[in-house]
Amino acid sequence: MMGLKTLLAFASFFLGTSALQKPLHETDCCKVLQDAGVKHILLPGNGTYNERVHSYWSLTSQLTPSCFVQPENTEEVSTIVKTLVVKTKCEFSVRSGGHSSNAGANNIEKGVTIDLGRMNSTSYNNATKIASIQPAARWLGVYRTFDALDRGIQGGGIGSVGAGGLLLGGGFANYLYQRGLATDDIVNFEVVLANGSVVQANATSNKDLWRTLKGGGSGFGIVTRYDMETFDRLPIWSASRQYNSSAETDEAHILGLKHWTDNPEILASSYAYIWWTYRPAENQTIIIAEMGDTTSQADPPAVQEFLTIPDYISSSTGLTNMSTSAQATQADGYRNIWFTVTFKNDERVIRKAVDLHRRLVEDMKRDSSDGDFETQAYFQPLPSIVGQRGAEKGSNILGIDKLKENAIVLLGSLAVNGIDQEALGRQKMLAWRRALEKYSEDVGAAVGYRYMNYADASQDVLASYGEENLKMMLKVSQKYDPEGVFQTRAPGGYKLPWDYRKFPKGY
Ligand SMILES: Cc1cc2nc3c(=O)[nH]c(=O)nc-3n(C[C@H](O)[C@H](O)[C@H](O)COP(=O)(O)OP(=O)(O)OC[C@H]3O[C@@H](n4cnc5c(N)ncnc54)[C@H](O)[C@@H]3O)c2cc1C
Ligand SMILES: *[C@@H]1O[C@H](CO)[C@@H](O)[C@H](O)[C@H]1NC(C)=O
Ligand SMILES: *[C@@H]1O[C@H](CO)[C@@H](O)[C@H](O)[C@H]1NC(C)=O
Ligand SMILES: *[C@@H]1O[C@H](CO)[C@@H](O)[C@H](O)[C@H]1NC(C)=O
Ligand SMILES: *[C@@H]1O[C@H](CO)[C@@H](O)[C@H](O)[C@H]1NC(C)=O
Ligand SMILES: *[C@@H]1O[C@H](CO)[C@@H](O)[C@H](O)[C@H]1NC(C)=O
Ligand SMILES: *[C@@H]1O[C@H](CO)[C@@H](O)[C@H](O)[C@H]1NC(C)=O
Ligand SMILES: *[C@@H]1O[C@H](CO)[C@@H](O)[C@H](O)[C@H]1NC(C)=O
Ligand SMILES: *[C@@H]1O[C@H](CO)[C@@H](O)[C@H](O)[C@H]1NC(C)=O
Repeated sequence: MMGLKTLLAFASFFLGTSALQKPLHETDCCKVLQDAGVKHILLPGNGTYNERVHSYWSLTSQLTPSCFVQPENTEEVSTIVKTLVVKTKCEFSVRSGGHSSNAGANNIEKGVTIDLGRMNSTSYNNATKIASIQPAARWLGVYRTFDALDRGIQGGGIGSVGAGGLLLGGGFANYLYQRGLATDDIVNFEVVLANGSVVQANATSNKDLWRTLKGGGSGFGIVTRYDMETFDRLPIWSASRQYNSSAETDEAHILGLKHWTDNPEILASSYAYIWWTYRPAENQTIIIAEMGDTTSQADPPAVQEFLTIPDYISSSTGLTNMSTSAQATQADGYRNIWFTVTFKNDERVIRKAVDLHRRLVEDMKRDSSDGDFETQAYFQPLPSIVGQRGAEKGSNILGIDKLKENAIVLLGSLAVNGIDQEALGRQKMLAWRRALEKYSEDVGAAVGYRYMNYADASQDVLASYGEENLKMMLKVSQKYDPEGVFQTRAPGGYKLPWDYRKFPKGY
């Protein structure tokens, strides 16, 4: 079998010579859909069209497509895909909750945005204890449904985020260490393939597609329903602390994070997220520590080290549930720039990331034209147990089951106003990312994996899952989408890194 590098060179040779046919005039894409009897097509000038443009969380995603088309059910999604594929060369994008800030991932400038916004219901099968979630459901609504039924379900920490995108990238939630990623709880996906056929992907039917969609993103089909396990759960004991960032409080949290991530007690029932954030209202950097215990245990031993850090500026503790805690928000209406780096659980790298964040804040205070910017250095512990949990549930495609050492996922984030500030911010964020990647390599703490839901468009997320998983995704794409429709005609989001259609059969 040819090596991956050889194949890459091979593929790029062919890529250069493959000229795609010219697209039909962009407005024709929408006309063709109208002629096919598709309903709910929103054209520019329509009031609802403008509302949808402005409904994206980050201004970077508020592109103006030729039209939005809003299917109400799986059959309509199928008709839309079939019509676009058979009758046009148009490009398109798929949108669920609209929270990705990578321009083009969930919207498109010249093409059709398949806006799943009307498909946002949640239902429950009391006999199987399986939840069925449509892609544009928001986590707050999902939690309200399941808290009322006294059932647990895994999803995002901020209730306005959509289910569709979060689940296709992984999903970090409070039960991460006990149950694996939110996507590991998915027992079945209903998927519209490139030829419009509707399939179920689960452990017994289309298993390769099931595994691939658990982390593989938007390049394989449109998921129209996610069937997820629910579970027995107790009220969550939670503690939220805030500190002014200082040499002492920084170091105490850096060490706390390091010890917590290596502490086997966390596996039983606790969680902790620690982040540094600059917000204009405070005019300084704050450390936020969110910790908890999913079995209602107050002051659990696993989080003692954090709880003993003195000089907090605020503290709240008590019992809660997801529909209460997910009412937290993160400001919308900015231009958001994110990136992610994963590294071994090494306090030197955490310290370096905190220091680079501090410098970013100093730079922005000096260079920002309006002073209105927000930052985050958000640390998500990723002990090796998370990958094992996924493997136990039939495997996802992320490759984190191969991590033998405990790791940490960093989300770096910057929110600014205006295109000029975005350009400036992008340079600074890239410098932060490069410096941290280099440092983690230099000290032998580099980890290749990149978390899709926190990554910048420039990061090669799918390749970071490892060669074996890349090959698997390639096979799955060839099998379920032989023309490469979702890989090439939906250009945004994370796609396979070469023109895989030119690969010899059986690769
Ligand atoms: C404020 C905020 C809080 C967050 N909190 C968390 C958190 O607690 N945990 C966590 O893990 N992540 C979190 N994230 C990251 C989040 O998981 C991603 O932004 C995710 O992409 C959001 O999903 P969405 O449906 O809203 O996004 P969208 O932008 O609509 O979709 C994201 C990507 O998925 C594709 N996609 C969406 N639905 C489908 C579908 N049905 N079929 C095929 N492709 C599809 C889109 O084409 C796009 O490429 C947060 C993000 C924000 C902005
Ligand atoms: C906007 O488009 C929708 C869907 O085609 C249509 O029902 C609605 O009447 C339009 N609204 C306006 C103001 O044109
Ligand atoms: C689904 O979306 C519609 C239209 O935006 C909204 O009115 C409704 O409240 C949403 N339902 C849920 C469960 O979120
Ligand atoms: C759901 O199932 C449980 C048993 O598992 C039963 O006690 C309960 O009455 C059922 N609820 C509904 C609404 O059917
Ligand atoms: C898996 O797919 C098959 C075929 O559609 C279906 O009969 C079965 O119920 C599915 N399993 C689950 C867990 O949804
Ligand atoms: C913000 O803090 C800096 C010191 O870091 C200070 O010089 C500046 O005056 C403060 N700005 C406001 C608006 O308080
Ligand atoms: C935190 O910083 C604010 C503003 O600089 C200050 O007023 C407050 O006393 C500080 N609190 C602690 C506990 O350090
Ligand atoms: C938990 O959820 C229920 C149902 O949504 C809600 O009524 C209740 O107030 C919540 N409890 C807490 C402690 O937040
Ligand atoms: C649609 O594509 C799938 C996957 O390639 C294939 O199995 C199926 O037969 C196709 N259906 C039709 C109607 O062509």
